[in-house]
Amino acid sequence: MNNDILKVCFSENDILEITKRLGKEISKDYEGKTPMLICLLKGAVPFMSDLCKQITIPMTQEFLKVSSYHGGTASSGIVNVRGDIPEVKGKDVILVEDILDTGRTLALVKKLFLDKGAKSIKICVFLDKPEGRVNDMRADYIGAICPNEFVVGYGLDYNELYRNLPYVGVLKEEVYSK
Ligand code: PRP
Repeated sequence: MNNDILKVCFSENDILEITKRLGKEISKDYEGKTPMLICLLKGAVPFMSDLCKQITIPMTQEFLKVSSYHGGTASSGIVNVRGDIPEVKGKDVILVEDILDTGRTLALVKKLFLDKGAKSIKICVFLDKPEGRVNDMRADYIGAICPNEFVVGYGLDYNELYRNLPYVGVLKEEVYSK
């Protein structure tokens, strides 16, 4: 699996530093509140897990299954929400995402929870890829800017593989151009 990676962009140590910083920022900004962190499945699972460990105030966890990519390296443009939708009425919600790319997923999910009566909604992403954006979606907490390349690992997949890499790396072109 490591042989399919061209270069490492964010090492395990980088990831630890990033989640520590974001956890500290969130803990400070939400002092006296109990935010609800909603993890967008599946990609954000490792980030959610690491981030929550760095948050020092009371908080709750929810999960929502959303998907937009259907094979290959490009977004299909169609975003699907599946399964139970967390009850967010009156809650201070933080959406937790692995990557903000076109912005379609977060635009849809943010609207969904605003319509369902969330008191506030902020967005926390591990990676921001501004070159991919098709709308004006912006994150409130950003772990790092993603290089404009196809990255996998730490939850990010190619055809459902590589999510278990403990780092983020660029996938060799020969892997996805086969
Ligand atoms: C990917 C990624 C983000 C979303 C970002 O998820 O994990 O959730 O796409 O893309 P966007 O900004 O262009 O909408 P995917 O739909 O592949 O599902 P997954 O999390 O299960 O991998």
